[in-house]
Amino acid sequence: MLGPVNHIAIAVPDLNAAIALYEALGAQVSKPQDLPEHGVTVVFIALPNTKIELLYPLGENSPIASFLAKNPSGGIHHICFEVNDIHDTCERMADIGVRILGSGEPKIGAHGLPVLFTHPKDFCGTLVELEEVARP
Ligand code: CO
Repeated sequence: MLGPVNHIAIAVPDLNAAIALYEALGAQVSKPQDLPEHGVTVVFIALPNTKIELLYPLGENSPIASFLAKNPSGGIHHICFEVNDIHDTCERMADIGVRILGSGEPKIGAHGLPVLFTHPKDFCGTLVELEEVARP
């Protein structure tokens, strides 16, 4: 089952300019965090009801580089939904014909929790991240 939106991710061509923009609007912005396994540097902006994740390319084969080549001003890259059980969600996705990207095995994401991405062609043209968040 899909839980709350954990974050909306925006790829940006200039991380410092994007941070300055959100800070100028009074938003609380985290320190940049390098995620070499995902080929990105991320920053989180805390909002009252969700977070914005700013993505900036890291390394040679960053998945964000081609996105920014097509969207030079930046743009919405993915939406992250929280799920209770990522393996259970994977099985459900397979049942309804939604492909999981990569090896199909969860990687550890920016919050130290397991994450997966689904194929945009199978999900309304949207890149969807699933993050396992244990809730009581
Ligand atoms: Co994300």
